[in-house]
Amino acid sequence: MRSKDEGSRPHETYTKIVEVRREDDVDTVTVGRVLGVLGQAGVSAEMLRTFEYVLAEIISNVFHHSGADLCWVGILQYPTKRKVQLAIVDNGIGIRASLARNPDFSSPLISHADAITLAAQARITSNPAAKPIRPEGNGGLGLYCMRKVMELNGGLAFIQSGAGYLYTN
Ligand SMILES: Nc1ncnc2c1ncn2[C@@H]1O[C@H](COP(=O)(O)OP(=O)(O)O)[C@@H](O)[C@H]1O
Ligand SMILES: [Mg+2]
Repeated sequence: MRSKDEGSRPHETYTKIVEVRREDDVDTVTVGRVLGVLGQAGVSAEMLRTFEYVLAEIISNVFHHSGADLCWVGILQYPTKRKVQLAIVDNGIGIRASLARNPDFSSPLISHADAITLAAQARITSNPAAKPIRPEGNGGLGLYCMRKVMELNGGLAFIQSGAGYLYTN
């Protein structure tokens, strides 16, 4: 929420939360709104195009994998530090339970942290059909690409699910 006198207090952190209720809203509503805020924060047009892809992918994951029927996107701005943080959050089944739908990753011995590390690798997906049917396709690349985009642009990616988390920078 922005205060009316925000201009006189540039050291403040600004927070905005956007709720996504339907996957159809991802492109038309959410990504546009989030990119609008990032554009105002001074993020370059080139980076906005990259974030457009990453955001749509991570939000789509919520509707495809989590079982939750809504998702929240939080945007935190630190103007004087020229820093922006985005958080995409759902309260669904989590990465470990989702990945376990693929028999390759269904061992109860896989921890939350192991599941996140696996899911953030290229071509790891809960959909066992994705690889054999379309070896050249996009299956299992969403979290991997998000991680790479952040790494290659001096950012930091943080993935948390259950008791596990993964930081990359
Ligand atoms: N929001 C989420 N909730 C639960 N599981 C998720 C979520 N996002 C990703 N995952 C898990 O991580 C895996 C890898 O995701 P991703 O890299 O986007 O590939 P894909 O969506 O093609 O399977 C998914 O198959 C799913 O098991
Ligand atoms: Mg995906």
